[in-house]
Amino acid sequence: MSDNWNPASWRAKPAKHIPEDYPDAAALLQVEQTLRGMPPLVFAGEARRLKSLLGDVAEGRAFLLQGGDCAESFKEFHADNIRDTFRLILQMAVVLTFAGGKPVVKVGRMAGQFAKPRSSPVEKIGDVELPSYRGDNINGMEFTPEARAPDPERLLRAYSQSSSTLNLLRAFAGGGYADLYNIHRWTLGFVSDSPQGARYRELSEKISEALTFMAAIGVTPDSHPDLHRVEFFTCHEALLLGFEEAMTRIDSTSGDWYDTSAHLLWIGERTRQLDGAHIEFCRGVKNPVGIKVGPTLEPDELLRLIDVLSPHNEAGRLTLYGRFGHDKIADRLPRLMQATKAGGRNVVWAIDPMHGNTLTAANGYKTRPFDRILSEVKSFVEIAKAEGVHPGGVHLEMTGQNVTECLGGARALTEGDLGDRYHTHCDPRLNGEQALELAFLVAEKLKEDRVDLARRVAI
Ligand code: TRP
Ligand code: MN
Repeated sequence: MSDNWNPASWRAKPAKHIPEDYPDAAALLQVEQTLRGMPPLVFAGEARRLKSLLGDVAEGRAFLLQGGDCAESFKEFHADNIRDTFRLILQMAVVLTFAGGKPVVKVGRMAGQFAKPRSSPVEKIGDVELPSYRGDNINGMEFTPEARAPDPERLLRAYSQSSSTLNLLRAFAGGGYADLYNIHRWTLGFVSDSPQGARYRELSEKISEALTFMAAIGVTPDSHPDLHRVEFFTCHEALLLGFEEAMTRIDSTSGDWYDTSAHLLWIGERTRQLDGAHIEFCRGVKNPVGIKVGPTLEPDELLRLIDVLSPHNEAGRLTLYGRFGHDKIADRLPRLMQATKAGGRNVVWAIDPMHGNTLTAANGYKTRPFDRILSEVKSFVEIAKAEGVHPGGVHLEMTGQNVTECLGGARALTEGDLGDRYHTHCDPRLNGEQALELAFLVAEKLKEDRVDLARRVAI
């Protein structure tokens, strides 16, 4: 057990990006009390299982695929949306598993990803200034004083939505939908007539052939149930610590504290202060945790963060998500990788190629050019290879919906197209086609790695 830690010890530390302007503070305490009595969303044993799979990633035996909405919303809550993002993750996982020849650990940014840190606490339109929108579990997006006032009842609604989402995800993962024999059926409608759709069909042909061959030699879903199910995990940013605290319970098997709101929690770039509340909270729960690592972080501070969050240096406990920007990664990442490697820190190194590549288009839309996202991923794999570190995974903002939020990709979305289907509640997401294109690119990079390795072994 961590020294002097308890689920509420973060309250004595400076906390950024947590709203303090609830009109009725007593009502917030009441809701947190209610949440303490609610069933856990995930179980400690599942979080331990994810930690062990991430341990494989840390040691170079597996690859992490983590993705989903920037922010989930009450409005976009629909079974079809959940299914489409889940299906996209399956498609990408197939592509990556086939190319990399290693298992892919599948983690959805789903079932709890609501709260957002904002660059400004207020938003001004004309002469009117109101609190910024902070995520559907805190306030509403509509630009009115009523909607923008934090409302604790929203926490209960977010809990309920997370619970239904998880229920569906568990059914999809274990109930036959994810069966590898369904590989042809996972194509998203709007992707099927694209170059990525054609490439995917080709790959699924090969896998079907391999499955037929394996069945002929006795490897069937009956003998190998893993062929018709996947292990699927959830994650979100541990931002709203009152909620996370309320969901934190002692696991009766191990006697350890687990945050039962998701399997994995990460700390954002804006809240990773060593003496801050978010680091304090996360150091005490036994879930696998992550930190976003941006362009201002220096190696000595990174090592200190690692030692606070992962004092036993256990592989799988800590994932680092680089998010530098396509033009900064080559300058910033090598020294950080050198530091973790030379210092013998067991961490997963992954890349978030979204957050360092955001810009505002001339017509006012916040967007991300697909080229820059690809470029940051490519640089990540190359730098990792040069430093002798395993390029462990990708963390993406994406959706199975046919949105027009990021520029470029095979269909060459332009600034003029952004207005067509721009639905995100916060940052721009890759659509299905763009996400699949990215998976193919990462797959090619991983394959080069595998070929290099085979050559080295042959010599
Ligand atoms: N269970 C295995 C895995 O997750 C094989 C598998 C079944 C699979 N369905 C899948 C792999 C869908 C990728 C996508 O690796
Ligand atoms: Mn985001």
